[in-house]
This record gives sequence, C-alpha cells and structure tokens, in this order.
Amino acid sequence: MSLIKLTINNQAHTVDIDPDMPLLWVIRDVVGLTGTKFGCGVSQCGACTVHLNGSPIRSCSFPASAAVGQKITTIEGISKEGDHPVQKAWVAHQVPQCGYCQSGQIMSAVALLKQTPKPTDSDIDAAMQGNICRCGTYNRIRQAIHSAAADIATPAKSPKSTPKLGKR
Ligand code: FES
Ligand code: FES
Repeated sequence: MSLIKLTINNQAHTVDIDPDMPLLWVIRDVVGLTGTKFGCGVSQCGACTVHLNGSPIRSCSFPASAAVGQKITTIEGISKEGDHPVQKAWVAHQVPQCGYCQSGQIMSAVALLKQTPKPTDSDIDAAMQGNICRCGTYNRIRQAIHSAAADIATPAKSPKSTPKLGKR
C-alpha cells in the first residue's frame, strides 16, 4: 500500500492504496463517487469512462498511480446541478433506458463536444463507438449530441429540464 494524491473533480484526495489498483476502484470504493460504473472490467464497454485532463479514458483498466498529478473528472464533476448541456439534452431526448451505460456515454459525449463542437454523424459514431448500450439507445444518443451541440452554440435555446443524472 502507498499514499497517493489524486485530484478528482478539482478536489485533492490522499488515498492509501495498492498503486496498481484500477482508478475505477479508487473512484467508487475509496472516494465514494458511484456515478461511474463497472461493466466489463477490460476496456470493452465504456461504462467506466472518466476524463483525464479532459480526454476520455477507461478507468477500469487505468492504474490509479498513473493519474497522479493529472486532472480526473467523473460524471459528478461535469456540472454542479446535473445541468451540463449534454445532461439536459439526455433528459430532453429521453436517452437513458436502464441507465447503466449512461454516465460513460455522457462522459464520452462531453469530451467529443469539447474537441469537436459541431460533430457530424460519423464524428459521433467514431467518438462513441467504445461505449456499448445493451438497451440500444444509439439513435437517441446521436440526436442528443446534436441537440447539446446546438445548445452550447446558442444557450438561449436550451431545454429547461435539469434532473440529475449519474447520482445512482
Ligand atoms: S468497465 Fe471499463 S470499459 Fe467496461
Ligand atoms: S441504457 Fe441500458 S445499457 Fe444503455
């Protein structure tokens, strides 16, 4: 075990862990942020997606020690009130079904829109291809990403509903 300092959602955490522990375990079981989900554990489903310095990574397969000194963002960190334009678009388009994959989907979508503010369908398909949804919400995800892109470009037209996602 070693003491490791991590910055998660702009908050410093000192954790006493095996340095090889996957970041997902630290986020969920040590720090207690349970919005990020465990799916496959082998980088194949995207349920565990978080951002490292703004880029999406699969936290199930990322050693916590490799995140020292870097900025980790989880679903809880993208907005204070669940009102990020992507979260609002997810609600407006009723994207979540069982919901299990959705925090990972949202994290990938947020990263995509930071990099590519006006994505085409093929940009969306390329960015989201590592996020699997057993409920088949892919068409709604695509519509919601276009809607969030429009909202970010012209915030006055944003949907009003702002229920929280990623707090289960
Ligand atoms: S749980 Fe990490 S990619 Fe599936
Ligand atoms: S909403 Fe059920 S797995 Fe995606």
